[in-house]
Amino acid sequence: MPVLPGAPTQGWKNGQPPGTPRDGETNVLLARDNIARMEGYTPGEQPRDRSYVKLNTNENPYPPSPRVFEALRTFDPARLRLYSDPLSTALRSVAVAPFGLDPEWALCGNGSDDLLTIAMRTFVDQGAPAAYTAPSYSLYPVLVDLQGARHVVVDLDRDFGLPAHAAGIAAGARLFFVCRPNAPTGNAFPLDAMHRLCTEFPGVVWIDEAYVDFAADSCMDFVRQYPNVVVSRTVSKSYSLAGLRLGIAFAQPHLIREMVKVKDSYNVDMLTQVLGEAALGDRESMLANAARIRSSRDRLSRELVGLGFDVLPSQANFILAKPPRPAAQVFACLRRRGFLVRHFDRDRVRDYLRITIGTDADMTAFVEACRAVLTEEC
Ligand SMILES: Cc1ncc(COP(=O)(O)O)c(C=O)c1O
Repeated sequence: MPVLPGAPTQGWKNGQPPGTPRDGETNVLLARDNIARMEGYTPGEQPRDRSYVKLNTNENPYPPSPRVFEALRTFDPARLRLYSDPLSTALRSVAVAPFGLDPEWALCGNGSDDLLTIAMRTFVDQGAPAAYTAPSYSLYPVLVDLQGARHVVVDLDRDFGLPAHAAGIAAGARLFFVCRPNAPTGNAFPLDAMHRLCTEFPGVVWIDEAYVDFAADSCMDFVRQYPNVVVSRTVSKSYSLAGLRLGIAFAQPHLIREMVKVKDSYNVDMLTQVLGEAALGDRESMLANAARIRSSRDRLSRELVGLGFDVLPSQANFILAKPPRPAAQVFACLRRRGFLVRHFDRDRVRDYLRITIGTDADMTAFVEACRAVLTEEC
């Protein structure tokens, strides 16, 4: 196989680089060493083969605010001739309003995943350590690999709590991703544990609040108190706009200014800015949907416990539940019956299924499918 002079061969198996090349492709390895060696992120499945009750990627089962429909209806496509506002000025003003912050305390991204990438590129040198908890959002380790940084994994304790000495374990890292409520476990670490981390860890603590609107409390106040804290949120979950791609990071202006240097110039397109503004301006309809989802979540949890599942208490729009039969088997049986949930073949969570909360009708049908899967042949 032709290999460019000096190309890395570390991590190869049987003379083949991992992942590349494939049959029929040109056998020249052009990617950076750490890119060729890494697996890449696997997004949750978006099936096209048949219609499922889709409970696998934590999307919202309800439509977005009526104001989004109206904004889309009245948007003039002729405006797309021009570039979008690089700083999403109007959108930032609407985003900070509920928290009493100035617009300079916010940065908009092409989904919060974009913001996580910007964080890694802003705060972590290649070869330097970056910390994240585990089990947690599986994008964090991928971002560490993309940056060519070093992994500092802070294992959650037996009950998936934040270890008391998390800051000590992460010592030396420049950035620490903490997800609250955590995915895929659903729990929210106590606020005093979060205060302790933000006080003791000298680097940037990035609090990923993708699921916060389904939780009892939030760390948004931390951004005023701590010069090293960023809180990120998304419209993908509570605002029912996963397909739009909009996330917002909140932090003191000295952190935002550095991240602005790193982001793509036009990282939030014009249509997203307009529709995002409409959505964020209608917190009431978001909160009403979130309340419905919380109540469906609590009912589903009770009913699955009744079927013999071990259900972890959740503050998110999903639950992590251990079925009384092997999780991979139950996953496959549910899929055959038209219900798509998520099974992670990863340490500490492989005995569980992560189930997104759907409408009450979806949840009733789902419980019936679980009952059938556990009592009949699937
Ligand atoms: C913990 C967590 N953070 C961030 C994201 C990404 O959200 P977005 O759609 O805003 O990129 C997800 C998506 O599933 C998530 O689970």
